[in-house]
Amino acid sequence: MTEDLVQARAEREVHDAGVPAASGAAGSAATEDGSRAVSDPGASGPGPGPGPKHRVRGDNGAVVLPAQPETTADTPIARAAQAALVARAGGPVWPRPRACRIMTIANQKGGVGKTTTAVNLAASLALHGSRVLVVDLDPQGNASTALDVDHHAGIPSVYNVLVDDRPLAAIIRPVEAIPLLYCAPATIDLAGAEIELVPLVARESRLSRALGRYDVSDLDYILIDCPPSLGLLTVNALVAAPEVLIPIQCEYYALEGLEQLLRTVNLVKSHLNPALAVSTILLTMFDARTRLATQVADEVREHFGGIVLHSVIPRSVRVSEAPSYGQSVMTYDPGSSGAVAYLEAAKEMAHRGAPAGR
Ligand SMILES: Nc1ncnc2c1ncn2[C@@H]1O[C@H](COP(=O)(O)OP(=O)(O)OP(=O)(O)O)[C@@H](O)[C@H]1O
Ligand SMILES: [Mg+2]
Repeated sequence: MTEDLVQARAEREVHDAGVPAASGAAGSAATEDGSRAVSDPGASGPGPGPGPKHRVRGDNGAVVLPAQPETTADTPIARAAQAALVARAGGPVWPRPRACRIMTIANQKGGVGKTTTAVNLAASLALHGSRVLVVDLDPQGNASTALDVDHHAGIPSVYNVLVDDRPLAAIIRPVEAIPLLYCAPATIDLAGAEIELVPLVARESRLSRALGRYDVSDLDYILIDCPPSLGLLTVNALVAAPEVLIPIQCEYYALEGLEQLLRTVNLVKSHLNPALAVSTILLTMFDARTRLATQVADEVREHFGGIVLHSVIPRSVRVSEAPSYGQSVMTYDPGSSGAVAYLEAAKEMAHRGAPAGR
C-alpha cells in the first residue's frame, strides 16, 4: 500500500468518524444493496451552508469539505453544470462497496472503448469519494497515458509484477489530477509478457497472486483495463477478478466475437476462477442519429437483460480528445455529453453494488 493511499484512508476515517450518522454508526450505514452509504456531513451537520459538501484539497493536502450549492433541476444544462462542479471540487459521496470490487474490463475486439471506460468510470468513482485503482494491463499503455502516469520503458510497471514477482505496491502511482485515484502503469515491456509468461509457474494466476498479496482493503474498486486479445494477459485479468465489465460499441460488428469472449469467461470460471461472472455491460459510442445504433442497443438489452447499464455512452469528440491532454473527460470537459454519461454510468454501478453471491 502506498503511503499516499494510507494517508487518504486515514483522512477519510478521521472524516467519517467525526460525522455522526442518523443511525448512530460512525459515518457509514449499510444500504439495501449491501453497500456502505457514507453519511453526508452537509445534509445533517451544522455546516456553513445548505446542501451537500464537496471534497477539495486544502493547503496541507488534507481533504476538506467546503459547502457547495446543489443543482436540483433535472435538465441537460443543470446536469452539465453539476458535472462541472463535481470535476472541480468532488461530488457527493456515493455508496462504497463493503469489500473492494475488482472488475476486469474486457472485449477482445479492438477500439470498443475499454480504456475510455476504465479511465472515466474510475475518475467518476474517485470524484465521488471512492478509492480506485486502475490496473493497466495493455502494453499500449493507453490508460496510463490518459491518467498522465509516467510509463516509459524501464519504469516499474505491471510487467514487473507479472514477470518478476514485484509487489503491486511498488509500482502504484497516484493520479495527480484526481485525489483517491491510483494507477498501476503498463510499459511497452508488457508486449513481451504474453510469451515470457508461458514457461512460468501459474502463468494464468500471476495477477491474482499479486492482488492476493496486496492489501485491497484500502481500495473500493480495482478496474483492470485489458488489451484487445484473449491471450494470457486477459486471462490473468479474468482469473484476478470476480466481475467482468464488457463495453459494447453500438455498431454492426459489435456482437461478433462476443460469443468467443463469453466462452473464454466460462472456461476461466470452470477451471480457474469459480466466482467469475459478467456483472456489467456498457453500451459505448452510441450515435443517436443512426437506426443501427438503436437496433444494436435493443439487441444487447434483449440478450443480456438487467446487467446492461441504463446509461449509454454517446459518441463525443470531447471523450476522444481528453487522453491527448493526459486527462479523463471528467476533468477535461465535465459538462460534455460523454462526461455526463460516464458519470451516470458510474453512479449506476455504485448504487447497484456488486452482484449477489460475492
Ligand atoms: N464515447 C466516445 N466518443 C468518441 N470517441 C470515443 C468514445 N469512446 C472511445 N472513443 C475513442 O475511440 C478510440 C478507441 O477507444 P478506446 O481506446 O477506449 O478503446 P479500447 O477498446 O480500449 O481499444 P483497444 O482495444 O485498442 O485497447 C479512442 O480513440 C477513443 O478516444
Ligand atoms: Mg484500450
